[in-house]
Amino acid sequence: MPKPEKHVFVCTQSRPMGHPRSSCSQHGCAEVFDEFLWQLQQRNLFNRVQVTATGCLGPCSEGPSVLVYPEGVMYGGVKKEDVAALFDEHLEKGETVERLLMPAEHWG
Ligand code: FES
Repeated sequence: MPKPEKHVFVCTQSRPMGHPRSSCSQHGCAEVFDEFLWQLQQRNLFNRVQVTATGCLGPCSEGPSVLVYPEGVMYGGVKKEDVAALFDEHLEKGETVERLLMPAEHWG
């Protein structure tokens, strides 16, 4: 397996309803993760980009949270409709999508 240029971690953590930390699951991460896999397949980027579901990344109230390495850029509040832009701009061109960045008080 070739070493990927980008590794995307999509938080898919769930917690019981009413938990004080909330979770990315309660904010719709499942459809975000599915869209990442769909876009990866459609764009045939398997040799360049790896997408991994992960547990809690920290800023639960701002989720769904998505972390991209090697840059260590975290996005927050990602919606299914945002995933194409993350591929177009960050994963294919290496440009950070400023409008989706996790606020600095949560990741910075
Ligand atoms: S539950 Fe996703 S960042 Fe904590």
